[in-house]
Amino acid sequence: MVVAGVAAVAISSVGGLTVWLGAGGVSMAFDSKRQRRILGRFATGVTVVTTDGPAGPHGMTANAFASLSLDPPLVLVAVDRRASMLEHLKGNGCFAVNILRDDQEPLSFRFATPGPKSFVDLDVSTAVTGSPILPHTLAYLDCRVHEILPGGDHAIFVGEILDGDERGGDPLLYFGGNYRRLVD
Ligand SMILES: Cc1cc2nc3c(=O)[nH]c(=O)nc-3n(C[C@H](O)[C@H](O)[C@H](O)COP(=O)(O)O)c2cc1C
Repeated sequence: MVVAGVAAVAISSVGGLTVWLGAGGVSMAFDSKRQRRILGRFATGVTVVTTDGPAGPHGMTANAFASLSLDPPLVLVAVDRRASMLEHLKGNGCFAVNILRDDQEPLSFRFATPGPKSFVDLDVSTAVTGSPILPHTLAYLDCRVHEILPGGDHAIFVGEILDGDERGGDPLLYFGGNYRRLVD
């Protein structure tokens, strides 16, 4: 078989999908630094995912967030298996996604620090699930965990949207490993 002009050799089947390798037949894991560099060219917004339960409130800055489905209404967030957020989400079964405004870089920095997070100085509210909703954000979604899917070194939390709202303002962006802002 010829794939993109080079002879390719099928070596294995992963979950029913045939994996084709170059003629050399050498399996090459894609370089993670290169992956980060390339995906750093994909501009995203910045969210703080929050949850609350018996262990208390927890939050984590996340940009691996996406809309997934309208019917049913689903979003997804990919959580590093090493993040303490993982067990909080599994235990609580719910989360809020707080979409940050362009002046909320300090909040992003704060929730990107590993370990327990203090919410005492934040004027948080709650909606349906009890997950903390941060003040003055661009928008929020309040979700129940619908499904947890495997995603390599991350777990994919699919959330069913139960509530949400949006307000005015501009987004905080993340691009090339740096925070950025919209320029008209
Ligand atoms: C802009 C930005 C985006 C991030 N996106 C994610 C993400 O999508 N998923 C993730 O697991 N970690 C992400 N992180 C890293 C976590 O915020 C960080 O590991 C955090 O310390 C985890 O906290 P915890 O271990 O206390 O839960 C991101 C960090 C930054 C600065």
